[in-house]
Parts: sequence; C-alpha cells; structure tokens
Amino acid sequence: MIYKNIFIQGAGIMGAGIAQVSAQAGMNVTLMDLSAELIKKAIDSIERNLLRSMEKGRITLQDKADILSRIKLSTDTEGAKEAEIAIEAVFEDVELKKKVFNELDKICPSHTILASNTSSIPIGFIASSIARKEKIIGLHFMNPVPVMRGVEIIRARTTSDETFNIAMDFIRKLGKEAVEAVDYAGFICSRILDAMLNEAVRCVMDGNRPEEVDKAMKVCTNFPMGPLELIDLAGADIVLHGLEIMEEEFGDRYHPAPLLRQLIRSGHLGKKAGKGFYNYT
Ligand SMILES: NC(=O)c1ccc[n+]([C@@H]2O[C@H](COP(=O)([O-])OP(=O)(O)OC[C@H]3O[C@@H](n4cnc5c(N)ncnc54)[C@H](O)[C@@H]3O)[C@@H](O)[C@H]2O)c1
Repeated sequence: MIYKNIFIQGAGIMGAGIAQVSAQAGMNVTLMDLSAELIKKAIDSIERNLLRSMEKGRITLQDKADILSRIKLSTDTEGAKEAEIAIEAVFEDVELKKKVFNELDKICPSHTILASNTSSIPIGFIASSIARKEKIIGLHFMNPVPVMRGVEIIRARTTSDETFNIAMDFIRKLGKEAVEAVDYAGFICSRILDAMLNEAVRCVMDGNRPEEVDKAMKVCTNFPMGPLELIDLAGADIVLHGLEIMEEEFGDRYHPAPLLRQLIRSGHLGKKAGKGFYNYT
C-alpha cells in the first residue's frame, strides 16, 4: 500500500517525532494541535533535529527542505479527511482520547485506519468509543521517535487482520521494527519500564540522590540512560498517568510513588518544564 497522507493529532514530543519520521519516509503529513503556538514549537523541534542530521552528514540541505515541505501544519481536523492513517498523540487521558477518536471516526473516510500512540491505555477502551472497531490499532512509538528503532503494535480484540497488516507495513515503511504486544494496559514496554521507573523514584524517596540512582543503573547495569533521566525526558505527568492506568488493571504493584505526584504539583515535569529531577535551564 502507498501511504500518501498521514494525519497526526497532537504535536507534542511524540506527534512531532512521528511527523518527522513519516515525512522522512516520503509521506505527506498533516500535523495538528490546538494552537499555532504549539504547532510552531513542534516544527521548530523537527527543524532542529533535521539540522543535527544534516550536520552529521546523514541528510542534505535539499533533503531537509523536502522533508519540511511534506509537513503541513494545522489547528483543525480537515487534514484527516484525506488520510489513509490518522494517528492520535494527544495527552494520555482516556476520555480525551475517546473524544478525539469519536471525532476522527466521523470525519475520516471509511478506509482510514485510526491509530493511537498511547503508551498504556488498552486499545479496546478506545475501540469502544468508535463505530469502525475493526480499523483501530495501537502504534506505540518510542521517545525520541527518530532515534528509537522499535514500535509496539497492539490490536484490540476487534481489530481486523487487514488493519493489522497495513499497520505492520506502515511501520516497515518508516524503517522501524514492529513488536506485537497483547492489549493489556502498558502492553510490554510500559509495563516493565514503568515498574522500574516507579522503583527508581522510591529509591530517591528512601534517600538516594538522583545522580547516584541514575549512575548505578548506567555503570552497574549498562543502561544507556538513568531511569530518572528517562522520567525527565518522558515527562513525570506522562509516567504518572501510565502508572495509574496500570494500577487500575493490575493492582497495587503499580501504585505511584508519592514523590512523583509531588513533582507534578510543583510543575517539575521534567525537560519540557525546564526542571524535573534535574535542572534544564
Ligand atoms: N513522552 C513519551 O516518552 C511517550 C512515549 C511513548 C508514547 N507516549 C504517548 O504519546 C502520547 C502523547 O505524549 P507526548 O509526550 O507527546 O505528550 P505532550 O504533552 O508532549 O503532547 C501532547 C499534545 O497533545 C495536544 N492536544 C491535547 N488535546 C488535543 C486535541 N484535542 N487535539 C489536538 N491536540 C491536542 C497538546 O496540546 C500537546 O501539544 C501520550 O498518549 C503518551 O502516553 C509518550
């Protein structure tokens, strides 16, 4: 299948990343968010990434211009009417996602596949809010999208084989590797990762310094980055939401560490806020 038009709703960290890799793969992308300011932030980050790739000799100036020319910015959902695949990357909130999919279901042509980039919400929940239940799929891209090779692919019980095969092909065309995960909260990656991240926060609550927790995991267990650095990168709010969803599905073992809530109350969400476990100002 040839994917000419991809619609991405939500131009935060993940939406911008998915837009970049789709445009790099030659697809036309409409990247949508709620305001021109948010959209500008997204395209600025894509430009910075492409500039870095150019400086490393991976792409030419012309490639950069071509990739950017394939990304259309929008503050409405008109672009979804043309899309073969519409990908949702809004906040990790079940009700918001249901609302977004309900609208996409109404405006997209009947052949459009609806994909969610949720990192923890079962796709079956989202499927329950739409009519085309056979055309819903989870595509869990990893952060940072241009760098990470794997994408979890999650089918709801209602997802058809055809939708699954098209989504697999789409991932392949992006140059990524698909990993099939069963539709329980957190799939595979978030289930395992978030349990560890939560425990890292508890280590800090027990008196360990964040630098030491991260250093231990890097130099003693060969992790490429520390768990607290990862929370700062993903956003403490995103991690908390994920834990809450998994707590609902699996019980106490995902009960969020109180320090995580305290950080969020203080606005210390991580890199995107300039402060989390570390300072980014
Ligand atoms: N950050 C990560 O490391 C990571 C990794 C994998 C998956 N995810 C998942 O990806 C999704 C997005 O996460 P993120 O980190 O990019 O969040 P983010 O906060 O950076 O971006 C979310 C964007 O959605 C926009 N938005 C909210 N409501 C909208 C609406 N109705 N229409 C259009 N845009 C809307 C917001 O304005 C914001 O720009 C979440 O479901 C998250 O769980 C995140």
